[in-house]
Amino acid sequence: MPHCPHTVSTLWRTLPQPIIGLAPMDGVTDSAFRHMVALHGKPDVVFTEFTNVHDICTGRLKALDSLRYSLEERPVIAQIYGKDPDLFYQAAHVVCELGFDGLDINMGCPSKNVASSGSGAGLIRTPSLALELMDRTRKGIQDWGDGQTLLELSLKPSALQAIAQLKAEHPEVTPGQERSPIPLSVKTRLGFDRNMIEEWSACLIQGRPEVISIHGRTLSQMYRGQSDWEAIALAANRIQPHGILVLGNGDIQSLGESAARIRESGVNGVLIGRGSLGNPWVFQGIPQIREMLQTEQSCIPPQHVPSLEEKFSVMIQHAFLFERIHGPERFVRMRKHLGWYCSGFPHAAAMRAELVRTNSTLDVINLVNQYRTRALDTLAMAMPATTTAAS
Ligand SMILES: Cc1cc2nc3c(=O)[nH]c(=O)nc-3n(C[C@H](O)[C@H](O)[C@H](O)COP(=O)(O)O)c2cc1C
Repeated sequence: MPHCPHTVSTLWRTLPQPIIGLAPMDGVTDSAFRHMVALHGKPDVVFTEFTNVHDICTGRLKALDSLRYSLEERPVIAQIYGKDPDLFYQAAHVVCELGFDGLDINMGCPSKNVASSGSGAGLIRTPSLALELMDRTRKGIQDWGDGQTLLELSLKPSALQAIAQLKAEHPEVTPGQERSPIPLSVKTRLGFDRNMIEEWSACLIQGRPEVISIHGRTLSQMYRGQSDWEAIALAANRIQPHGILVLGNGDIQSLGESAARIRESGVNGVLIGRGSLGNPWVFQGIPQIREMLQTEQSCIPPQHVPSLEEKFSVMIQHAFLFERIHGPERFVRMRKHLGWYCSGFPHAAAMRAELVRTNSTLDVINLVNQYRTRALDTLAMAMPATTTAAS
């Protein structure tokens, strides 16, 4: 297998360790959500939803929407998936051209239409193809860095136009942008139908990504059972001596749990996925947690618990950002986020049932106004009657 020179980039090495990042989640970690997370918690790094290389290279609108980002989110890593090496080569150019801080290859998606076609976690069964994809992607990054333009690739004019439009959203990424190579990373699982992370990580090491993120389940497990952190620890131990960082992933709900997992497993950091749903505050306090780990203290700083008012204003802010970034026509995708915010206050279930039918930020504002009064009235009624002071 031919190898091109190791991509020189500094992003992952300059991030403070341990790294605590937002995991990629299709249909969830769009630009609006990542922006919210950046405003209310600020993880060290965020990943886009996975995007199909074919869709990127043909300039499909949905693909390009998932490659939207805002400056506040940086550093932001674009995650791509597929199985055609030439498309990875081209998609790498597009990701670089759009100004992303890194490129991640999905080798962990278990969903039927992805894995059974040989992409995502399907690649665990075809290690030589997995290596070829890494090689071609790195070559794409390198050639782009050496000055190759999108015009020199055989992309359709309509794709070039769509990509140029998306790039125009980033005036900071100028036409004469500095073409520094971006780092390549991989996110994967423990194996296909059994834990084979030992052989699988030996293969991935040959592809020399800068980071390997490991979700501690196999493909067959989907999301059942528990993430196997012992297996992640063993893999980290094997991989790290090769100068590759390891991020562990699976079932972390708070920064306190992140700290415990980092301590036990020796990983260089963790990614939090589902623990952030309806909870962009989950990343609040990362510097304190890092200090706690570095000074070997055991006292975990308290986790932020949002007030009712904070939850309501975040719902409105998120809806507003979503509409502004992704457009009112896609608002249905915002509804599940609104539902996730609804827990832990009076009438939350009733509010959730109404929020999942909203079509705009204005609808959300109206419901918030209605439910704020109802929730506060219920809370006031539940308060014990105040006793007079000094009685
Ligand atoms: C709705 C959903 C979508 C996901 N989409 C992606 C994806 O696009 N790319 C990826 O690498 N992993 C994806 N994952 C997996 C997560 O990144 C993560 O590995 C998994 O949820 C375990 O971590 P957690 O327990 O912190 O959620 C997805 C998970 C969920 C729940």
